[in-house]
Amino acid sequence: MAIPSSFIDDLVARSDIVDVVSDYVKLTPKGGSYWGLCPFHGEKTPSFHVRADQQNYHCFGCGKGGGVISFVMEVENLPYLDALRLLAKRAGVEFPEQNMDQRSRRKRARLLELNKEAARFFHSQLHGPAGRQGLEYLQRRGLSRGIMTRFGLGFAPDNWDSLIRAMAQKGYEKGDLLEAGLAVSSQKGRIYDRFRGRVMFPIIDLRGDVIGFGGRVMGDGAPKYLNSPDSPVFNKSRNLFALNLAKNTKLGRIVLTEGYMDTISLYQAGFDCAVASLGTSLTAYHAKLLSRFTKEVVICYDADSAGIQAANRAIPLLEKTGLKVRVVRVHGAKDPDEFLKKFGPDAFAKLLDQSENYVNYNLRQLQEKYDLTDPIQRAEFARAGAEVISQLESPVEREVHAGQLAQTTGVGKDALLQEIQRFRKQRFYQAKRKQERRDLTPVNQIQPKSRQMRYDNPRSARAEEGILRLLMLDSSLAQQISDLTPADFTAPVLGKIYGVLRDRMDQGRSLQLGALEGELSGEEISLLTEIMGRPASLENGAAAMADYRSVMETERMKQQTTTDEAVLLAARDNYRKKKGI
Ligand code: UTP
Ligand code: MN
Repeated sequence: MAIPSSFIDDLVARSDIVDVVSDYVKLTPKGGSYWGLCPFHGEKTPSFHVRADQQNYHCFGCGKGGGVISFVMEVENLPYLDALRLLAKRAGVEFPEQNMDQRSRRKRARLLELNKEAARFFHSQLHGPAGRQGLEYLQRRGLSRGIMTRFGLGFAPDNWDSLIRAMAQKGYEKGDLLEAGLAVSSQKGRIYDRFRGRVMFPIIDLRGDVIGFGGRVMGDGAPKYLNSPDSPVFNKSRNLFALNLAKNTKLGRIVLTEGYMDTISLYQAGFDCAVASLGTSLTAYHAKLLSRFTKEVVICYDADSAGIQAANRAIPLLEKTGLKVRVVRVHGAKDPDEFLKKFGPDAFAKLLDQSENYVNYNLRQLQEKYDLTDPIQRAEFARAGAEVISQLESPVEREVHAGQLAQTTGVGKDALLQEIQRFRKQRFYQAKRKQERRDLTPVNQIQPKSRQMRYDNPRSARAEEGILRLLMLDSSLAQQISDLTPADFTAPVLGKIYGVLRDRMDQGRSLQLGALEGELSGEEISLLTEIMGRPASLENGAAAMADYRSVMETERMKQQTTTDEAVLLAARDNYRKKKGI
């Protein structure tokens, strides 16, 4: 359940740490901060330190530390949300969870209801006088009435407010339509229908709810397709057109296309297993989603080079989820829709059956780049082809493909297999080297006893800590390191903390320690508190930041050289051993 971050920021601002701690510990002011007996471990002399300026606590005895939320979690032994509840009660503010949850659920339901009404309206328009053009257009594109109904296709009249007026009669206000992305407002504040004079394709999710629309112009206007913007109910990176239907297919695979029309034409031709991504490239989330419903995906994108590139990007995403991936390339037509019209369903079925695994597909694509009548180019193709085949894990498959490649190129199969082996070795050593480099970078390991981090590159890590400290003290210094990414940190734990800070700054949110406690673990909070507690002067913040940055840079270069050197030395030793030197 999501608690709005603004609520947490506000709650932390209202919960002064000295106040809250004082409920549990008798604090004595000393030198601008407060000391007391640590509530977390038995002690006789105070080593528990509370700083009002940084709103944090730190015990020099047991090492515990953090902001106000983690203090309450620790001292009351409460989970995070309950600690928030307690603080809310203490501060006299209402805890938002119940209301929020109900409110957002109600809003979702209302938007979905509105989308459904809109889809009904568009559908009825398609069959009424205003929609004649739309109906004719769809018929011209070869769609039957049956398939139009199955997909709930519709028509948005060419007026400024047909939908707004129709929905007003059902009790929806302009604000609702804006939120659902069905209306837009002009700069002058006038509100009008988003979809006008377009054929409408409702997008339906797995539960059968209408979550958005695509609308196509009937002529040459732009954009060709206008889609609903992302809304509380619609996210195009997480939904696929027609998956609600394809998930029930008995055909044993899902065909992934680029377009609404490709998918619909496939259904009409009897392939009830097609889906389309919604004007975006395939995401890892899409891939995961597909893998829930099928074992095999056949990519059937457009025949142009954009389609080929998109397929090449989609293949690894799909494979990563364990899906079997095949690729179909339509010939003699620009996309599956046109192919079906020109050559019919049987031809497409044949294409599907012959659909290639991705190695075949890559090989064929590669082959088109070479002139095989030229012996030199033939040899080049053999080499490049061997590299593609070397990616196959199965020796049997490698063998089969090598045989085919031998036939196309006239290069001996054994020579090809040797070449394939060479590529495999090369990749193996590359991976090993990468692993070695990774091994040289620090492991995220907190040693609880000493509360000291064991950093593998202490020099760089100290600079990294310095950067975190400066950011916490003065977040305006972040501008100076706007290009620094979490991956630049040699200590993963510091990189992670930096990532959290960075995200918050990018969103204009508070960096108060208390507010960070939902995003960092207790140990990370303790570490950050400790880092903040070290002496620092802000007088020369900018210069200090630049120094830390340059230390990180120097250390990175050093490490790079050590790795390279290590590799060279290893290679030399190997060579010497072989030669018996
Ligand atoms: P295409 O341009 O290939 O269109 O875009 P299409 O599917 O072949 O459509 P027809 O046959 O000309 O009607 C493929 C997909 O890219 C998205 C749509 O999802 C479309 O189906 N797209 C395309 C947009 O979102 N906006 C556009 O302006 C164009
Ligand atoms: Mn197309």
